[in-house]
Amino acid sequence: MRQQNESSPRIGFIGAGRVAKGLAWALAQSGQRVVAAASRSPDSAGALAARIAGCRALPHAQDVVDGCDLIFITVPDDAIAAVAASVNWRKDAAAINCSGATEVAALASAARAGAQTGGFHPLQLFADPEVALAGLPGCTIAIEAEAPLLAQLEQLAGAVQCRTIRLPPGSRARYHAAAHYAAGFVITLLNQAVELWQSFGVGREDTIRALLPLLRGTAASIERSGLAQGLAGTFSRGDIGTLERHLADLAGAGPDALRLYCELALRSIPLGLERGGYDEERAEAMRELLRRALKP
Ligand SMILES: NC(=O)c1ccc[n+]([C@@H]2O[C@H](COP(=O)([O-])OP(=O)(O)OC[C@H]3O[C@@H](n4cnc5c(N)ncnc54)[C@H](OP(=O)(O)O)[C@@H]3O)[C@@H](O)[C@H]2O)c1
Repeated sequence: MRQQNESSPRIGFIGAGRVAKGLAWALAQSGQRVVAAASRSPDSAGALAARIAGCRALPHAQDVVDGCDLIFITVPDDAIAAVAASVNWRKDAAAINCSGATEVAALASAARAGAQTGGFHPLQLFADPEVALAGLPGCTIAIEAEAPLLAQLEQLAGAVQCRTIRLPPGSRARYHAAAHYAAGFVITLLNQAVELWQSFGVGREDTIRALLPLLRGTAASIERSGLAQGLAGTFSRGDIGTLERHLADLAGAGPDALRLYCELALRSIPLGLERGGYDEERAEAMRELLRRALKP
């Protein structure tokens, strides 16, 4: 635990769930002044505050606003606007939401009262605050704010060893939708593999155990070499014969399985080309096979 800097802003949390705990503990560990938390249930606020010297669990959201400079509203997305509107804001305070998909405009009531408003979205899963605390360094935090809050939020992200990206207003829905490709949609794709392997008798558990090392290897390969150079498999090499065998088989697995495979394959070809695995002529031959397979 780093020594607290008494001149740094006082940080508080309204809503003491998974993100609040992970973030509050990480900020406090890095020497930031996390001084207050309130939540719907006193137990949640108490559990957050118990791990931070000098942090108090307070009964009301208003108490947090009154005693802090930077106030994180870490309640479920649908409650952010109502919670922000339920308290009186000072001009020298800032209201911050941690949502990926909820616009900073949800904090309009704070802005109308003259407070600064911003977004601070840690791009990580917070299923368990302890795990999140350990996994936070190296993550990216998407920040949306104007000066001077922008610099303060960037400084907080740096303190917990996170990188930052800036989001312009109005970009959250697309930003958040795209993040699914690295999270929930990976699971959806693995589920598709489970269904295909089940057709020849390999169960879900064995499929997941077999594919997880492949998934880890893929992540390591991207980290080492980037997207195009990290690509492996049929579309990294332009193996037309293998592609033909895949298409012939998947046609028997149903139109959904075939369509998903073709859509993903078509989007893999530009990466294979960028990698230098084959030339445009071969790429076009593969596209032609895929387009033909997609025709109803
Ligand atoms: N989980 C993730 O992976 C993740 C990642 C990045 C960002 N986020 C964002 O972080 C924010 C918080 O998400 P979370 O996953 O931490 O949610 P969570 O675990 O469900 O925690 C929400 C907390 O807010 C409290 N709460 C609910 N309504 C309230 C109200 N009206 N007033 C005061 N407190 C209230 C809850 O109640 P109790 O006091 O009863 O416990 C709970 O402690 C959301 O905006 C979410 O989009 C989540």
